[in-house]
Amino acid sequence: MGVGVLQQYREYLPITDSTPMLSLGEGDTPLVRSNRLGPELGCGELYFKLEGCNPTGSFKDRGMVVAIAKALEEHSVGIMCASTGNTSASAAAYGAYCKLPAMVLIPKGEVALGKLAQAMAYGAKIIMVDGNFDVALKLVRDFTSRHRITLVNSVNPHRLQGQKTAAFEVSDVLGDAPDYLFIPVGNAGNITAYWRGFKEYYQAELTTLLPHMMGFQAAGAAPIVLGHPIKNPQTIASAIRIGNPASWQSALEARDESGGVIDSVTDDEILDAYRRLASTEGVFGEPASAASVAGLIKLVGQGLNLSDQRVVCIITGSGLKDPDLAVSSSLGQTIEVEPTLEALEAVALTAAL
Ligand code: F0G
Repeated sequence: MGVGVLQQYREYLPITDSTPMLSLGEGDTPLVRSNRLGPELGCGELYFKLEGCNPTGSFKDRGMVVAIAKALEEHSVGIMCASTGNTSASAAAYGAYCKLPAMVLIPKGEVALGKLAQAMAYGAKIIMVDGNFDVALKLVRDFTSRHRITLVNSVNPHRLQGQKTAAFEVSDVLGDAPDYLFIPVGNAGNITAYWRGFKEYYQAELTTLLPHMMGFQAAGAAPIVLGHPIKNPQTIASAIRIGNPASWQSALEARDESGGVIDSVTDDEILDAYRRLASTEGVFGEPASAASVAGLIKLVGQGLNLSDQRVVCIITGSGLKDPDLAVSSSLGQTIEVEPTLEALEAVALTAAL
């Protein structure tokens, strides 16, 4: 482990002798056992897969490394993506690493500050679009169909190939696939990729079961749940503010083949899960990531019994991606003191007791 996903899962990826085996250290992320939420919800075993520990702080790096390696192999001259933020950060980083110019289209004013900061730091050309993610993705598809620039959104099949490696890791660490996998759904690539990964390991007889795939959209951006595209999706979880997911059909297949669900959670449920995860588990995921945990809390509340089940929630991105929301939604207080021991004792001893 620790060698990057191309090396680690070479035999499951579209790698040839001329594929550059690059890595920024993606993959091999922690699977952490829940200390409090699992027992509180009556789960047999609950784990969080910390995808925020990838080099740019989200799961996107797993797919990006494959997409970029293939782009280099095919002598691409540049890459382009539309993004709610994380894909752009990842494309910008791998582009910088490989000297491949990156252009990222983002919905104007709707990308979390940390993600924007990353794309800027890595030196991507940032193109703000006066429209939402769906509009930006359509533009990127039109542009890359006319020009020799590689599209690195998850409609590029190499992206999902790389992202499926997270399902391999979960299975490798647990010794088998889990019974349930809870995951946020935006453009629906990741749920598709996990399902593919679990099926491949099962077919290779490395696991003995297939998980129920439990996908969650934000209620204001839940086209799959509603059964029709949404023109103006709205949610506090900006990463999954998507009204017309590219991998819609394959997400339905993952749901139906696995005996799972695709459901929605409200912004209040997302925020509650976001705070609980950080303040009771020490796991700081971004709001979109908390949708998986919000979904788990919701379904257990509706009577889903997980008492002898192994459950994994995917925490898709780091909480540091969206510092504005972290501060504005925090229930914690900051206290000011004079710089004296007496003043410190006055506040610290009462807090500790
Ligand atoms: N969680 C995070 C943190 C994300 O950034 C995304 C998608 C998702 C979940 C949903 O994954 O789209 O495969 O269903 N972010 C994309 C982006 C859209 O542009 O960064 P999905």
